[in-house]
Amino acid sequence: MPIDVLLGLQWGDEGKGKVVDYIAPNYQVVARFQGGPNAGHTLVMNGEKHVLHQIPSGIFRPETINVIGNGVVLDPAVFAKEVKALDIKGIDVKENLFISNRTQIIIPTHKLLDRASEASKGDQKIGSTLKGIGPSYQDKFARQGLRLGDILSQSFDDRYKELKNFHLGILEKGGWDSVELQEMEADFFGALESIRKFKIINTEYLLNDCLQKGQSILAEGAQGAMLDIDFGSYPFVTSSSTTAAGACTGLGIAPSHIRKVIGISKAYCTRVGSGPFPTELNDETGEKIRIAGNEFGSTTGRPRRTGWLDLPALRYANMINGTTEMLIMKGDILDGFDEVKICTAYHNNKGEVTDQLNYDLARTEVHPILHSMEGWPEGLQEANSWESLPKSYQNYCLFIEKQLGVPISFISTGPGREQTIIR
Ligand code: GDP
Ligand code: IMO
Ligand code: MG
Repeated sequence: MPIDVLLGLQWGDEGKGKVVDYIAPNYQVVARFQGGPNAGHTLVMNGEKHVLHQIPSGIFRPETINVIGNGVVLDPAVFAKEVKALDIKGIDVKENLFISNRTQIIIPTHKLLDRASEASKGDQKIGSTLKGIGPSYQDKFARQGLRLGDILSQSFDDRYKELKNFHLGILEKGGWDSVELQEMEADFFGALESIRKFKIINTEYLLNDCLQKGQSILAEGAQGAMLDIDFGSYPFVTSSSTTAAGACTGLGIAPSHIRKVIGISKAYCTRVGSGPFPTELNDETGEKIRIAGNEFGSTTGRPRRTGWLDLPALRYANMINGTTEMLIMKGDILDGFDEVKICTAYHNNKGEVTDQLNYDLARTEVHPILHSMEGWPEGLQEANSWESLPKSYQNYCLFIEKQLGVPISFISTGPGREQTIIR
């Protein structure tokens, strides 16, 4: 009766959506445990693309139960749009989705506060997705947030008004406008009407009952380890626990139930938004990777920053998460390169070398020490087994495995379900 946790080891967008969709048939339940509409998880089926933000990536498998856990912050307006888009594709979300009554609600003024906070930071802005993530988690921890179960209560409107007015007070004091609020509220209340028809329950009981019955659960992470509120590149992080421990608090499941921790990494690095990125390539190579990898945000459309694979950051992410196996995605994006590089350690201007991440990475001078490897000009997309992969890509994966001491169990060679090699 295990729970496996699947999470990103980098700065998000590693390919979590593809993997969850692919491995969902091995589980009875797929559950999201943190984050919210800041996430954009892309699934490609029969060449058709679908992006999910808050709904778990098991939703396309009719036999899978999907859960939005208490650790999530949910925007009802975004949720209603997601449901509509799935409905058009013939997916009955109401049937297979359960939402925790403890899930925090993102209200319209959270989004206005997110915008105001970012604008007030000037060039120190986080580069947030402006979806209201920071302000809604702030209210959760200030013990004044609204939870999904509350929408079923008579007093909801009063409690909503109280929180909204508190937010408006802050906005007014800072001189920030709230002109779109009326329109946003219309969307918000319209969406609440449809959410009331969903199964809003104590999902911690549902999940623990499933475990008792011998069913298995896949916990689907959002964002990535380097965006974790505690262990990411603070303050350039998101506001939730993106690491394995977050699955326990975000679902109400005891750590003793965790079996595997499946960590996902691209064959290179990307980051959206501001903050330190030691292996970043601000040159033609970086641009080549961005274009080949279509590295533009699935939620905001912003160009993603690109760089070589960063082993010290991955080693740290594996340590914090207790990763039991790694999945390597998007090696095909480096197809055609004669040479590829991997960062094995950092140095500063004094020549001091380290393979550890400083707690204040944003204010630490780090330059990558790059190890050069032979590329795979012939490409990966035709490969359908480990043996049929180009020798140089096998060597690339074996080098990562040896450096990190974590086995690579799954190699993705393209966005489609079928472009997957289980090792
Ligand atoms: P997530 O947030 O971790 O789910 O990742 P995103 O969906 O934001 O970004 C990953 C992108 O890469 C999506 O467009 C996927 O369809 C695509 N993708 C996933 N795996 C592969 C792969 O192995 N090769 C290629 N070319 N694309 C991939
Ligand atoms: P998935 O699940 C990549 C980044 C934002 C910003 C920082 C804080 O698709 O991997 P927030 O809106 O959370 O307050 O923004 O975190 N960020 C992501 N980057 N993928 C994501 O999700 C992200 N979710 C947030 O760009 O730098
Ligand atoms: Mg994404």
